[in-house]
Amino acid sequence: MKHYSIALIPGDGIGVDVIREGKKVLDTICELDGGFSLTYETFDWSCEYYAKHGKMMPDNGLELLKGFDSIYLGAVGYPGVPDHVSLWGLLLPIRRSFQQYINIRPVKLLRGIKSPLANRDASDLDFIVIRENNEGEYSNMGGRIYEGTNLDMAIQNSVFTRTGVERVLRYAFKLAQEKGKRKRLTAATKSNGINHTMPFWDEYVHKIHQEFPEIETNIVHIDALCAFFVSKPDVFDVVVASNLFGDILTDLGAAIVGGMGIAPSANINPEKNFPSMFEPVHGSAPDIAGKGIANPIAAIWCASMMLEHFGEEKAAAAIMEAMQDVLEEGRVVTPDLGGRATTEEVGSSICDTLKKKLG
Ligand code: NAI
Ligand code: MG
Repeated sequence: MKHYSIALIPGDGIGVDVIREGKKVLDTICELDGGFSLTYETFDWSCEYYAKHGKMMPDNGLELLKGFDSIYLGAVGYPGVPDHVSLWGLLLPIRRSFQQYINIRPVKLLRGIKSPLANRDASDLDFIVIRENNEGEYSNMGGRIYEGTNLDMAIQNSVFTRTGVERVLRYAFKLAQEKGKRKRLTAATKSNGINHTMPFWDEYVHKIHQEFPEIETNIVHIDALCAFFVSKPDVFDVVVASNLFGDILTDLGAAIVGGMGIAPSANINPEKNFPSMFEPVHGSAPDIAGKGIANPIAAIWCASMMLEHFGEEKAAAAIMEAMQDVLEEGRVVTPDLGGRATTEEVGSSICDTLKKKLG
């Protein structure tokens, strides 16, 4: 029997609640499937940990995570700890050290969810954004001088490397080739305003396109691309973007398919030399933390993506179906989707549906 080890990092705020439900669903499908086993170890790294220890994770944190098959993370960040401290103290070191250079963010309208875009259904809203995850605009290059004086200034540099750009583009083209319904790739740019790194990015889009001549390829300015996500989302298949553009674009992507409570993401090390990390797009939501009403769908979708990454396609698909059955029935949904159910009730309802279908 195949076995997978999972490091759980629930993190802060609603991260804790949604990971609990995600684990519950994983345990249920694992038992029903019978073809694989899962073990977990929980790490309490968070802003609370920071308050006690002055760091987001122990010095050997990455060493501790290295041996796991994957990492399942809720969210980190909470008022009291500056966001750049929580992010650079945990999430970004994991993404970088483990070469999780691909961030997969599906923009797909699930059964049972109504898009805020008028007259759009699931056939119009079904594409994947690939975000570059290790360099670009989030590169920790720069500095600040003359703080507290009239000369106060800050510089933040973007880093685009041939290796970094080629590998994310190649991954995106390959995805369009293997899984794309429309065999189409859209690359986000801003080569008119950002005149060094973006023409560089565009040049490599053309270059890698030559390896995939059958893929229809468009390079679109990020501002126009945002508008097209709203006005003609049906034209997209695979969208590839730099770190910053992909980050911003995918919150919009989440909004057009039902909001932050639903959007999943996977940080992938395609070579599988290191664990990949699965986490909802949303943060710790301090405004609803502790109320038990966070939507666990994003986290549960991430659990499905994790199983898919392991190669457990059948189990992954079963989670997606059960989740959509519950959404379509509409009885047990959280307030962000207009319902009154709790986080825990949604998780349990998905588990019950799985048992009914497969038990
Ligand atoms: P957020 O995603 O936590 O919340 C934005 C809005 O969406 C809030 O109104 C929240 O209530 C709602 N929301 C988010 N997830 C939801 C869910 N599952 N169910 C129902 N409603 C949900 O983003 P925000 O407020 O910008 O950030 C809060 C904290 O989270 C910050 O410290 C930030 O740095 C951190 N953060 C962490 C991330 C991560 O760990 N990957 C990602 C984004 C933010
Ligand atoms: Mg974001």
